[in-house]
Amino acid sequence: VDPSLLAERPPVVTVMGHVDHGKTKLLDRIREANVVAQEAGGITQHIGAYQVYLNDKAITFIDTPGHEAFTQMRARGAKVTDIVVLVVAADDGVMPQTVEAINHAKAADVPIVVAINKIDREDADPNRVMQQLSEYGLVPEAWGGDTITVQISALQNLGIDDLLEQILVLAEVLELKANPSGRATGVVLEANLDVGRGPVATVLIQGGTLHIGDPMVAGIAWGRVKALVNDKGKSIKIASLAMPVQVLGFSEVPSAGDEFNVTADLSTAKTIAESREQRIRMAGYASRAASATG
Ligand code: GTP
Ligand code: NA
Ligand code: MG
Repeated sequence: VDPSLLAERPPVVTVMGHVDHGKTKLLDRIREANVVAQEAGGITQHIGAYQVYLNDKAITFIDTPGHEAFTQMRARGAKVTDIVVLVVAADDGVMPQTVEAINHAKAADVPIVVAINKIDREDADPNRVMQQLSEYGLVPEAWGGDTITVQISALQNLGIDDLLEQILVLAEVLELKANPSGRATGVVLEANLDVGRGPVATVLIQGGTLHIGDPMVAGIAWGRVKALVNDKGKSIKIASLAMPVQVLGFSEVPSAGDEFNVTADLSTAKTIAESREQRIRMAGYASRAASATG
């Protein structure tokens, strides 16, 4: 790619951490909308993705229901995250899913920013958390290491701007760039069949710009972009780099982790989708045939 075509793009951040350490509350605080209250039982039911701005700089956040979606996407070769924010509750400390998240981030070669949460609690012990993190190779900057740690209270709205600033500092170091012109590319974060709207896919735009009317393909789904809805539920005409956007107009529901591509024309999109479907069908015959003879 011609470097002169590249433009700075916002960082895409995934929030991970042990159950109930405050991932949703943090994202909620950042977005200043009360998602926790809306969720059944306070457990994340879906991937929420949205953008926020700090001093005119955008950050894209992705909430994950556990680590499954992240692992699944990585297994399929989709790189969606630039930075992992690891939420560790200061009272609970490093727990099994904290370690899992550290391992996922390391395997994917994604830098970690640690948010030590719930520092408002009487039994909060951030020093113990930092000690535990060091044991897993995440030595805090304050202790001479290179892991950014920020102490926060998602509940009391403490340290949130500091966390966002640290994310932007790290993003600058990472020099995240992409080509904003040309046909859009991206990855499907989630998709479902909406009774009224048909197949709806939340797509993270990773290259180019997406427009209404563009021919598109994702996995075995294809179509023409009928409508675009942003993270605030607003209808928009174009979606740009690092934006999560709901895309309507697919022939069927694509899968999370599917690569998203705008094609030259609609027949190309259809041909690509159909050949993928054909390949899947052939693989099915082959494995059935193998098990029948073997
Ligand atoms: P899962 O999605 O189920 O894994 O949980 P989560 O990590 O998203 O945690 P969630 O945001 O649902 O918070 C769990 C509980 O901790 C809720 O009752 C929150 O109100 C509470 N909580 C979150 N952040 C803080 C904090 O900074 N201080 C205190 N005291 N409580 C918090
Ligand atoms: Na929870
Ligand atoms: Mg949650």
